[in-house]
Amino acid sequence: MEKVFEVRGLRYRYPEGREALCGLDLEVFEGEALVILGPNGAGKSTLLLSLAGLLKPEGRILYRGRPLQGLGDPRRLEIGFLFQDPDDQLFSLTVFEDVAFGPRQMGLLEEEVARRVREALDRVGLKGFEERSPHHLSFGEKRRAALATVLSMKPRVLLLDEPTSNLDPRARRQFVELMRGLAETKVLATHDLELAYEVADRVVLLYRGRVVFSGSPEEVLLDEDLLKRYGLEMPLFARLLKGAGDAREDRVACLSP
Ligand SMILES: Nc1ncnc2c1ncn2[C@@H]1O[C@H](COP(=O)(O)OP(=O)(O)OP(=O)(O)O)[C@@H](O)[C@H]1O
Ligand SMILES: [Mg+2]
Repeated sequence: MEKVFEVRGLRYRYPEGREALCGLDLEVFEGEALVILGPNGAGKSTLLLSLAGLLKPEGRILYRGRPLQGLGDPRRLEIGFLFQDPDDQLFSLTVFEDVAFGPRQMGLLEEEVARRVREALDRVGLKGFEERSPHHLSFGEKRRAALATVLSMKPRVLLLDEPTSNLDPRARRQFVELMRGLAETKVLATHDLELAYEVADRVVLLYRGRVVFSGSPEEVLLDEDLLKRYGLEMPLFARLLKGAGDAREDRVACLSP
């Protein structure tokens, strides 16, 4: 399987902060949905910013076998990045202008730009929001508008930082369906363990700037000791799932003395 990203020995220290990445290794494979879990401050956002080429850590990041060459590298347009805070992503006077920004940067004709904007807004459930001011939207609407600015570029890779935080249940459901319908490679950082269970092909645990575990969603989410060791809590849905599994095992145990 082709490696979309190959990350080796990544280290990053913010100018005034402590070390956020401490020798991190990671591989991301073509077509997979990779969910990154970890407590506050683990380094998830720093890692995604590094993958997007927006931070310059020490170590090696290969994108499809080669490092990105600075901010002007055209291959960066293949990588869509959803910021944790939508205010970091929205800067135009209208939603249309924000969602059109990427496609225009790609040099598309205005007709195609308008088509991409319509399609992206439709996909995130913001049909008719074209002329609204991004700064007067609710937080959840801003998050969806920010996602539209990413989708309108039709990226090959999606890097999503806390994509479901502050979405209401219906918007969250739409988002999960959207993610499931996208064949592109996806890397999602989240505290939403249910999202991890629903969309991940693989889950990676990040702790104190390093990847400490990589496995299937079940291996991670149903292992309370593992979650606790790395600062996470087992959510109710996982408890219920695990309980159902244990109950099944009990029944089997009764049948085979
Ligand atoms: N702009 C910054 N300046 C200084 N330190 C920072 C900055 N951004 C993050 N840090 C520090 O780097 C470390 C990693 O932060 P990061 O935002 O990557 O964590 P995170 O896993 O995304 O956390 P959260 O779940 O809260 O979003 C933390 O110790 C944080 O305080
Ligand atoms: Mg973060």
